[in-house]
Amino acid sequence: MDFNSVKGKVCIVTGASRGIGEAIARVYAENGMKVVCASRSQEKGQSVVDDICAKGGDAIFVQTDCSQADEIKALIDKAVEKYGKLDGVVSNAGIGMGGNPLHESAMEDYDLIFDLNSKGVFAGMKYGAEAIFRSGSNGGFLINVASIAGIMPQRGQALYTATKFGVVGMTKSAALDYAKYNITVNAICPGYTMTTMFEGIPDEAMAFFLNDCPSGRLGDPYECAYLALFLASDMARYISGAAIPVDGALSAGSKNITIWSHPEIRKND
Ligand SMILES: NC(=O)c1ccc[n+]([C@@H]2O[C@H](COP(=O)([O-])OP(=O)(O)OC[C@H]3O[C@@H](n4cnc5c(N)ncnc54)[C@H](O)[C@@H]3O)[C@@H](O)[C@H]2O)c1
Repeated sequence: MDFNSVKGKVCIVTGASRGIGEAIARVYAENGMKVVCASRSQEKGQSVVDDICAKGGDAIFVQTDCSQADEIKALIDKAVEKYGKLDGVVSNAGIGMGGNPLHESAMEDYDLIFDLNSKGVFAGMKYGAEAIFRSGSNGGFLINVASIAGIMPQRGQALYTATKFGVVGMTKSAALDYAKYNITVNAICPGYTMTTMFEGIPDEAMAFFLNDCPSGRLGDPYECAYLALFLASDMARYISGAAIPVDGALSAGSKNITIWSHPEIRKND
């Protein structure tokens, strides 16, 4: 049992034009999976796919607005039409929002963020599960990219937190639905990860985030992608219904003052 078990599996990755989704698509393709990449941006998504194919991978791009359920259905139909089956869906496309107290969010913000982060994930799971069943996949998987905000509420992030708690809830419930049928359902919960979500933010904001990280650094998108690879492999068939943080211990608890009596043992300081 090794990572060869993913070879030939067909998987959709949403939000694959950059960030965590791009890293997952690249790692899947490098390991022999057939990857259907979706995002809103045709140009960026196609260029990721072109690069994957130039390096010997097998991938296609399907322009998709993942806040529209009918477009997700069409995406899944396209994947089956192209590759003849479907083994997995990674519902990753999502937007951030917030930095303000709840009452300062507009009513329209609710629809905007729930349409993508919640309804889009539901549609990916619903149509994805149907296609995985019809394909007779013997190792199907649904992976949702939630957030540590789906485990640990964040100040200033009421709507985002609500969508991500919902994703974690849907993940766990669906895991119970499909456990008997060998389809695993898990959520990856990134901590602060260096993607466009953090590009160009003011220095004080970056200092705040770095200080908040117990590890003293932001995550790399590939650190989520390696977990996604493991969850897609047959080594992870007994892992289902989990919401797994990739966050350098950020969601493990709160920090307190610690004084080391023997700091000299830290040779790599
Ligand atoms: N970066 C972080 O720190 C962090 C932390 C926790 C959770 N997450 C989650 O990880 C996921 C990926 O985030 P990221 O940091 O890579 O963001 P990103 O902004 O770099 O990438 C988002 C991707 O989603 C796509 N997308 C956005 N709206 C879309 C739509 N309507 N239809 C189709 N595609 C759409 C974009 O084109 C892009 O490919 C999101 O669900 C996000 O909530 C990120």
